[in-house]
Order: sequence, then structure tokens, then C-alpha cells
Amino acid sequence: MIDEQLASQLIRQLPIGACLLTPDYTIVLWNDFFAERLQMPVEQTLGRNLLELFPDQARFLKRKLDSVFILKNTSFSYWEQRPHIFRFKSSRPVTGQEELMYQNMEIVPIFNDEGQISHLFLAITDATTTASYSIALRQAHRQLEDEHKAQAELIRKLEEAQNQLLQAEKMASIGQLAAGVAHEINNPIGFVSSNLETLQHYCQTLIQALDFAGQLLAKHPAAELAADYQQYNTNHNLDFLLRDMPELITESLEGTGRVMSIVKSLREFSHVDTSQWKETNLIDGMESTLRIINNELKYKATIHKDYQEQMPLVYCQSMQINQVFMNLLLNAVQAMDQPGDIYIRISTAGDFARISIRDTGTGIAPQHITKVFEPFFTTKPVGAGTGLGLSLSYSIIQKHQGKLSVTSPAGQGAEFVIQLPLSAIPEE
Ligand SMILES: Nc1ncnc2c1ncn2[C@@H]1O[C@H](COP(=O)(O)OP(=O)(O)O)[C@@H](O)[C@H]1O
Ligand SMILES: [Mg+2]
Repeated sequence: MIDEQLASQLIRQLPIGACLLTPDYTIVLWNDFFAERLQMPVEQTLGRNLLELFPDQARFLKRKLDSVFILKNTSFSYWEQRPHIFRFKSSRPVTGQEELMYQNMEIVPIFNDEGQISHLFLAITDATTTASYSIALRQAHRQLEDEHKAQAELIRKLEEAQNQLLQAEKMASIGQLAAGVAHEINNPIGFVSSNLETLQHYCQTLIQALDFAGQLLAKHPAAELAADYQQYNTNHNLDFLLRDMPELITESLEGTGRVMSIVKSLREFSHVDTSQWKETNLIDGMESTLRIINNELKYKATIHKDYQEQMPLVYCQSMQINQVFMNLLLNAVQAMDQPGDIYIRISTAGDFARISIRDTGTGIAPQHITKVFEPFFTTKPVGAGTGLGLSLSYSIIQKHQGKLSVTSPAGQGAEFVIQLPLSAIPEE
């Protein structure tokens, strides 16, 4: 058995906060742990009411203390629930960050011989180490989750890029197919149309001949003959037929004309060898691109063209340049909330061919303007934009030793300008 002095010294120096209270919250024991950390010497604390000493925590402490009375059982408070009950400075420089000590509190009832609670023992233990590990763990967990999310996003983008590539691949083969089909259609539609023209001439001659025959018969003395002819004419609806025939032919010629122009656009657009370099008329390229995407444009944008006369040919990969035109035109029309205008200008500027595509759409926010050429940058909803159109266009123009630039003055839509060297021999 240790003597009383030793026991009380032990309690004073316990490495936990120890405080003994009477049922009316009066402090009867206050050890050094409390005294030193709160700078409240023992003499100043004994006999005081705990709740009055800590008015900020009074409600919480009272609830905890009272629950011991009611349940006649120990009451706990963990650091997670209320980290800093008393303003103890952190004793653990381990973390270097924790300013205040994280605390667990236990309030233990002390019973007298009659089985009534005579005192409450309040013990505070330092949970800073556990808490800081736990917090660090939680942070690491959150960081991992963030990284996981970023990775998932990256994977989604990669999948999209792959889709885009597959799409490009498909487009290229469709292009080849289209060129092939166009080639096949070109011949028959050519002779159908030329036959129709001939038929048109024949038809005119035939109508004149019948007309002439009618006139002759009208003059003929044998009235019967004229009447018979007239009867035949009526029975077979010849008058209507003769009137309708030239119209049918004209309509058919219009039809074949349209087919021929589509075929021509298709052939121009999808050169079988997509990377073929050749002397190219940029205006023709622009026109065939416009025809191809006419459907996307016609209800949303009015196209204004300003083409310099006698534009020199430009040595380029025409199919790829058409691809760039298409990306820029589609972006322009996609930037319109309401029907607007697209201004296309093709001209020379010094040693360059200059193609400008300007729209009256929503424009590009200043903070985005440096990003639009970055792969995957898009402001369009998932599924609507891949963010690859401009980066692809940029690399195509770069391969031609040209320049692709953008401006977007506030409230005035956007203007993209392509410059292609007129003279340089590009490297393949
Ligand atoms: N004409 C334009 N007007 C306004 N914003 C544009 C225009 N062209 C491109 N942008 C912006 O640049 C982004 C990237 O374009 P792009 O690379 O073609 O990808 P996507 O069209 O798939 O979004 C678009 O999402 C849009 O925010
Ligand atoms: Mg685009």
C-alpha cells in the first residue's frame, strides 16, 4: 500500500487530465495536467463550479455530467465528436500542425457506501496522435478518391479520343467508298443526262411535227380524215401529253443536274488518297465543303462569301484542308444560339493564302481563348463535343507550315484565320 502523500502526488502528476467534482459541479480535485495547460493553478480552481469556469462548454459538460447521474454509468466523449473540450495546447509536435490537443473525455461516477453518486471523476486523455493519424488517413483517402476521379475522367477522355480516331478512320473509309460510288454514278448519270438533252430536242421536233400534221389535216378536203385524227387525239389525250412531255424532261434534267453536282462535291471532298498533296483551288474546296455540310448550316446561318478573283492555286493536302474548313464552319454554326451570319473570305496576303471564317455566334470567353486549340478542350456537353476539332485543325495547318489563329472581341462572335504559304514546298 502506498501512503497518502504518494497517492496524491501521483494523482497530481498523472499524464492525463484528472478532475473530481461533487454532484453540484464543484471542483475538489484539479491535477497539474489541467493546471499547467490551462494556466489555472490548483488554489484558484478548488471549490469553484466547473460550469462557471468554462461557460463556453457549460452546456455540453452539463449534459455529459447529468447523463452520468441519470444512467449511473460512465459517460464518454470522443475526439471525433468534440475535438477540443478544453483549450489545451497540443503536446505533440509530431504532426507540427495541430495547435490544440484532441481530447477524449471520460466521466466516471464514484459511489458512496449507500450506493449513491458522491463524486464524478472527469478524465481527459490526449488523442492528438490518433486524431492526426486518422485525419491524415482521411485526407489521403480523399486525395486517393480525387486521383481516382481524375483517372476515371482521363480514361473517359481516352475512350472518347479512341472513338474519335475510330470515327476518323470510318470517315476516311466512308470517304473512299463515297469517292468510289461517286465515280460509278458519274458515268451513268452522265449519259442519262446527255440522253435526256437529246430526247428534249427530239421531243420538240416531234411536237412540231404533230402540230404540223394537225394543221395539214385541218386544211384537207376530206373532213372525215381530220375528224378521225381529232378523235384519236382526244381518245389518247394527246394535247395534254404533248404539253406535259417537255416539262417532264426539263424536271428530269434538273434532277440529273443535282445528282451530278452532289457527285462532283463528293469526289472533290473525298479524294481517295486523303493525304495527297496537289495544287489546289481553295475556293473550290470551300464550295464543296459548304455543299457537304449544307444541311447543318442552312437553317442556322446565312453564308456571306467574299472570294478574291484569280486566287492562285495552293500546294496542299486538299482533303485535309477541307476537313479544317469543315471543323471551323461547324464550330461557327454550333456557336449560334439563334440564326446568324458566317462571313467567309478567301484572299492572298503577302506570301500567304488567307482564309477567314468569322461568325456572329456567342464568341469565346477571354479565359478560354488560349485553350481552344488544346486537345480535349471543349465547352460543349459530353457527347456533343470532343474538343479535338481545333487541335486537329491546328496540326494540319502546322504541317502545311501555315498558321491558324483566332480572335474573339467581346460580343462579336469569333474569327478564325488560316494562312497557307503560297510558295513553300511543304515537307511530307
Ligand atoms: N466559332 C466559335 N465560337 C465560339 N466558340 C468556339 C468557336 N470555335 C470553337 N469554339 C470553342 O472551342 C472549343 C473547342 O472546339 P473544338 O476543338 O472544335 O471542339 P468541340 O467543337 O468538339 O468542342 C469549343 O468547345 C468552343 O468552346
Ligand atoms: Mg468542333
